[in-house]
Amino acid sequence: MPAQSQDDQQYPPLEEVPQHVGIIMDGNGRWARARNLPRSAGHRAGTENLRRVLRAAVEFGVQILTIYAFSTENWSRPEGEVHALLTILEGVIDRELQELHEEGVQLRHVGRIERLPEKLQQKIRQAIELTQNNEQLLLNVAFDYVGRSEIVDAIRRIIIDRIPPDQVNEDTVSRYLYTAGLPDPDLIIRTSGEMRISNFLIWQGAYAEYYITPAMWPDFDKDELYKALKAYKQRERRFGLVPR
Ligand code: FPP
Repeated sequence: MPAQSQDDQQYPPLEEVPQHVGIIMDGNGRWARARNLPRSAGHRAGTENLRRVLRAAVEFGVQILTIYAFSTENWSRPEGEVHALLTILEGVIDRELQELHEEGVQLRHVGRIERLPEKLQQKIRQAIELTQNNEQLLLNVAFDYVGRSEIVDAIRRIIIDRIPPDQVNEDTVSRYLYTAGLPDPDLIIRTSGEMRISNFLIWQGAYAEYYITPAMWPDFDKDELYKALKAYKQRERRFGLVPR
């Protein structure tokens, strides 16, 4: 009998699903190196995997997914790799946008858009506009993003808007972040075993649960996502309070 594919497999329902999940998609380079492939092949495999993880996230009931696709520090990678990552994002929009739209995915961008090539900026803006009313899954793509710059940008805009200092509180800052209006992530997953936050959602993740898996991103499949969501359920979130 052929092995059952993960697509057909029945997963026991999760009692509690994190509403907002962040993912640091790490390990594409190591995945490629282990196969004697160029790093860009790892990024392509990681992109294909993203499609599978999106479908699984919808099936498991996740409502918001924020993915770390390109950190501001990634501009310092070799030019060819930067070019490959920009081309991959453009290709995803060109090839997948219509299908994502039909599946009810709402796309948003978090980060600084101005440094991206003009044509890519336009495509991102069009994708955001096209999908703005979709409700199945909100996909935040962090591209040219780092959390510290996000906070700096928020402070600048608070000053520009002349908010009096005694009216600036945590809610004010949250409202000026790129993720304004969204709930904070409940769970942040990092693949490839690294125990770092790497400047990802550093404000919003203050009370998030963290889940680290040794799986490289291209291998982080539906089973792996299920395991992460199940582990979340088993954590007791205390938000600084005493145990129940
Ligand atoms: C980290 O792996 C991954 C990245 C820097 C890029 C992540 C991008 C994708 C999965 C595809 C692009 C996504 C979209 C939305 C188009 P690494 O290269 O740092 O791996 P390493 O640590 O093993 O070298």
